[in-house]
Amino acid sequence: MAGEAGRDIAPAKGKLGVMLVGLGAVSTTFIAGVENVRRGRGLPIGSLSQMGTIRLGKRTEKRSPKIKEFVPLADLQDLVFVAWDPIPDDAYTAAVKAGVLERHEHLEPIKDFLQGIKPLPAAFDQYYVKRLQGTNVKRGKTKRELAEQLREDIRSFRKSAGVSRVVIVWCASTEVFITPGPAHQSLATFEKAMEQNDPAIAPSMLYAYAALMESVPFANGAPNLTVDVPALQHLAEERKIPIGGKDFKTGQTMMKTVLAPAFKARMLGLAGWYSTNILGNRDGEVLDDPESFKTKEESKLGVLEYILQPDQYPELYGNVFHKVRINYYPPRGDNKEGWDNIDIFGWLGYPMQIKVDFLCRDSILAAPIVLDLALFFDLAQRARLSGIQEWLSFYFKSPQTAPGLYPEHDLFIQHTKLKNTLRWLMGEEQITHLGIEYYEKA
Ligand SMILES: NC(=O)c1ccc[n+]([C@@H]2O[C@H](COP(=O)([O-])OP(=O)(O)OC[C@H]3O[C@@H](n4cnc5c(N)ncnc54)[C@H](O)[C@@H]3O)[C@@H](O)[C@H]2O)c1
Repeated sequence: MAGEAGRDIAPAKGKLGVMLVGLGAVSTTFIAGVENVRRGRGLPIGSLSQMGTIRLGKRTEKRSPKIKEFVPLADLQDLVFVAWDPIPDDAYTAAVKAGVLERHEHLEPIKDFLQGIKPLPAAFDQYYVKRLQGTNVKRGKTKRELAEQLREDIRSFRKSAGVSRVVIVWCASTEVFITPGPAHQSLATFEKAMEQNDPAIAPSMLYAYAALMESVPFANGAPNLTVDVPALQHLAEERKIPIGGKDFKTGQTMMKTVLAPAFKARMLGLAGWYSTNILGNRDGEVLDDPESFKTKEESKLGVLEYILQPDQYPELYGNVFHKVRINYYPPRGDNKEGWDNIDIFGWLGYPMQIKVDFLCRDSILAAPIVLDLALFFDLAQRARLSGIQEWLSFYFKSPQTAPGLYPEHDLFIQHTKLKNTLRWLMGEEQITHLGIEYYEKA
């Protein structure tokens, strides 16, 4: 179907509803950011869909349109937001509490808009997020009932907001570690498990199930298992809905997936990589619980193994000591400090060290990713791409892939893959970077 002519993509007509699970630091920074951009009060820095260009054809053709002008994306003016959260604060109060954006510069001028976004009651259970307590929660006898209530929320939002399409992005807390089990294998076992209140079904899975049943794409910004189970993957394929995850790739892991490919490209060895983080936001508090940390740790640890391929390079990467720590340290709030100590070795095994101290702002890095995911998942749906969207791995620490396929973690391969997918969708030639034609003229 694709090829020279490209893919038939339905136009981005009407409004796009962005339903966010969680109305915490990331969600409010995203929503307030978009509104500030719409009012000309700031730039969407960090968003590839808004700031990026894409080269088409030969270098000599000098064709490099902006991505948002090349592919039919929803316009920022057409986005409408809603969120679920067990904490009843509206988006203004939540943003002030999160303390990410400067109150007078970026929150007060849009106070009315933010106060209009009040969280819907959440499908929440403290068993999965130990450090949180919520009062704004749905009640139901079974998990299935909660999922049905979420479906109803999606349907009423469609009607009341007058949106023509909806996407859901999970921006809620990291849940306790869950491994795929019998309940997750098929739709029948999954639905039965919901009815029996099986602990294997986490709240995040109820949102994903509700999204798919309502034909809504679902992107998972946390490391939770959520939609990365066979039952929901099959459901997405069957119903032709795009899904993806897991865990926004923002600060330290983004740097890791830039540096590790550089060592490998130069065949430099790695003895150890010690990563530590201090952060003081609510996410940091949730991750202070060992069970939620375990979920995050798995997501952060995986990247080196896949990038460095120790099986293929045992002398260089066969004995890497890799450690990741997250420490809750309230004084820093959302301004995380990610320290990396990297022990590498070169020619004849001589050791060297690299230190990275990334004084980042977690939600400032995550907000543009939420925007791009919302826009690209909507594009995927309109282009009839369904199931796992591997081309959006660029945005995830722990990208979902088809069964049996290892994930691609190298940021630049992910970037090339994303842009080549856009070219493919629009019937433009793939860019291979061979470039021999500039030197060997016929
Ligand atoms: N900021 C980053 O750089 C980054 C990177 C990767 C992943 N993440 C993930 O994104 C998520 C959001 O981060 P944050 O800093 O905004 O955290 P946050 O704690 O400020 O916000 C999360 C919100 O989710 C709500 N919540 C928890 N369970 C819920 C449920 N079942 N339904 C609805 N809402 C629920 C919480 O009440 C909270 O308000 C976290 O899981 C975090 O690990 C963030």
